[in-house]
Amino acid sequence: MSADIAKINAAAAALDFVEDGMLLGLGTGSTAAHFVRLLGERVKKGLNVRGVPTSEETDRLAREVGVPLVPVERVGALDLAVDGADEVDGQFRLIKGGGAALLREKIIAGAAKHFVVIADESKMVETLGAFPLPVEVTPFGFTLTAARIYDALKLTGCKGAEASLRESAPNTPVVTDGGNYIIDCRCLAIPHPEALADALKRITGVVDHGLFLGMARTVIIGKAKGAEVLER
Ligand code: 5RP
Repeated sequence: MSADIAKINAAAAALDFVEDGMLLGLGTGSTAAHFVRLLGERVKKGLNVRGVPTSEETDRLAREVGVPLVPVERVGALDLAVDGADEVDGQFRLIKGGGAALLREKIIAGAAKHFVVIADESKMVETLGAFPLPVEVTPFGFTLTAARIYDALKLTGCKGAEASLRESAPNTPVVTDGGNYIIDCRCLAIPHPEALADALKRITGVVDHGLFLGMARTVIIGKAKGAEVLER
């Protein structure tokens, strides 16, 4: 099965949650991009919505396909946020940030009355952690911060943990839209996501992390034919 068809089916099913007049959080990544393109088609047919993008990449795409945008500074709350995920467990806990957009994604999802996750079946997991957990850190002192992140991983029971700087080429760190670096945390599994999330947030130098806990209300799993909508 092509993962792309499943992603499109998940994105298409998320359109059912969109109502005229809504202010929408627009996620980042290939699945969210399908949603933005489909939304653009609806806007061309007369749907009246406005979006707040979670990355420069999504900002460009939304403009290209004709989705009207609102600067995030002018927004109080959003009606709905739709975004992809790197992993989703049975309790709707997520790992996000594979596209290095986790900070803006978390700000927007947290400000939305309803957060809908769209993903293909491959993203559903029993236990979070096979996908390396992204942690956004300030460039200043990032090696020190990475060492403390490593300690937090070990302390919260992540076996075989490694924390490494994300690079686009050797010695070229990936820089997020906010001007920060990403530390990718590899471990066999994250046995206690809440404890790890708390420990990471207490580290000075950590801007935020890719664990999205207690945020998603709806998860749409795209399949070869159609999509399954799960509600928390
Ligand atoms: C970007 C993200 C994406 O939502 C996540 O990486 C999933 O991407 P894709 O839909 O391309 O599989 O968190 O920071």
